[in-house]
Amino acid sequence: LRSVVQPSFPALQANVGFSLLAFVGSVVLVPQVGKAFVEKGLKGRDLCKPGGRISGPYIPECLGLPCASLYILLMMLFIPFPFSHLFTPSSDSGVAFSQQELTLYLSSLLSLLTATLLGFIDDLFDIRWRHKLPIPLVASVPTLLVYYSEGGWTSVVLPSTVGNWLSSIGPLYYIYLLLLPTFTTNSINIVAGINGVEVTQALIIALSVLLNDLLFIPIWPERFLAVVGGGNPSEGRLLGWAAGEVVQRHLMSAYFMAPMVGVCAGFLWHNWYPAKAFPGDTFCYFTGMAFSVVAIHGHFSKTLILFFIPQIFNFILSCPQLFHLVPCPRHRLPRYDATTNLLFPSLTEFERPPEMKTRVVLRIMEVLRLVKLERASSTMSVTQKVRNKSGNQVAVKVKTSGENSDPDNIRDGGKESGSDGEGVILSSTNLTILNLLLVHFGPMREQSLCLLLGFIQVFCSGVAFGIRYGLGSMVYGG
Ligand code: UD1
Ligand code: MG
Repeated sequence: LRSVVQPSFPALQANVGFSLLAFVGSVVLVPQVGKAFVEKGLKGRDLCKPGGRISGPYIPECLGLPCASLYILLMMLFIPFPFSHLFTPSSDSGVAFSQQELTLYLSSLLSLLTATLLGFIDDLFDIRWRHKLPIPLVASVPTLLVYYSEGGWTSVVLPSTVGNWLSSIGPLYYIYLLLLPTFTTNSINIVAGINGVEVTQALIIALSVLLNDLLFIPIWPERFLAVVGGGNPSEGRLLGWAAGEVVQRHLMSAYFMAPMVGVCAGFLWHNWYPAKAFPGDTFCYFTGMAFSVVAIHGHFSKTLILFFIPQIFNFILSCPQLFHLVPCPRHRLPRYDATTNLLFPSLTEFERPPEMKTRVVLRIMEVLRLVKLERASSTMSVTQKVRNKSGNQVAVKVKTSGENSDPDNIRDGGKESGSDGEGVILSSTNLTILNLLLVHFGPMREQSLCLLLGFIQVFCSGVAFGIRYGLGSMVYGG
């Protein structure tokens, strides 16, 4: 058993080499193909630059495609390394070739390929939200089937009694696994719109997953383990209890995550402010799917979700807009002000007084300081109001109570129609974490906002490790 679970060190070294190739490859490849993408119409205006939507600079879009292609190509070329014992007769080496591992590896690649293809289709045709959501479900079918076929949940190593109890919720766990890829792909895609932000998230999550994997892999020098005072020095293990299959699974995950770190870092080179390339939905789909795939196969999907704390928060914050309680404009990214060169929270305007349920939700969010609302003092006085914000004349026509045909408002008796007692809501800040940061920290430059989000992501990863290996060691198994 020991020879099966021990990492084959040439494979690890090769993986480091492939990761460097992934980094250099994306640094070199992206600018070379950018022009061809623009010629094919794959370009988008950089909205947070002077000119914005009207005349902002055109940037090649969807460059997640060459990155994903490079990554998948490298992962294909890497196959012989972890399976190098295939070339040695098993009787000589004493190590049987693991069909199961190869199946896991290949199904991961298949899911990644499908996610990339579907992300690219989204970039080409701008698929509508309700059609977009199930896309990653389809892409994750190969991964989930392989997971199921090799015993799935029941084979997870669960050291605690709590874990054993949890295994009884098997079917629910499969539903969670089914939804995981949908979440990881879309949640990165909706923290978007400023230079570098999608790639920064993906890079930090990839680094966090990789670090988590390395905790399980016996590569730590004795001296280091003596300094940190833990682990199993004779076997180079940081986590003394991690053994056998657990090590093997994290090793496989590390093989996928290290080149992912390389690709993300290489692409960030071009996507950092001022961006020379946009990732497109292809990048979000492919990175999100990679995280789900390694976590499902590595049996650490509960740990993975901890690395998505900012994205979970952003998703919950976004729900009123995603489910159309609050108007959801095509772009919710922050508003750029050319005179100051700063980003401000962007607003979603109410063309007519919001319904009761919308008002209640917004009021709760306001109390929780998650949103900034703009109100008119009385219903009648806002029938024809002209608001001037940073030079933009915006005419807002709000119907009076008599005109309002909305059933919820009629139920109000038409007395305070559209008003939550403090006045009619005219607009709300768009419900994203980026806008929320601008509400609380004030206007800032595009790159500062991206850095701030990056710091929050790193901080949350720290919290995630704290939960996983501190509080959660009771609950978390693999
Ligand atoms: C998601 C968000 C949307 C946000 C958009 C920005 C939701 C529900 N959707 O939509 O609110 O506005 O991402 O990516 O939250 N862009 C920039 N600067 C950047 C990156 C992108 O200006 O650094 C603009 C470009 O015009 C680019 C466009 O965003 O063409 C790409 O948008 P796309 O990824 O297609 O938007 P969605 O993912 O549908
Ligand atoms: Mg997008």
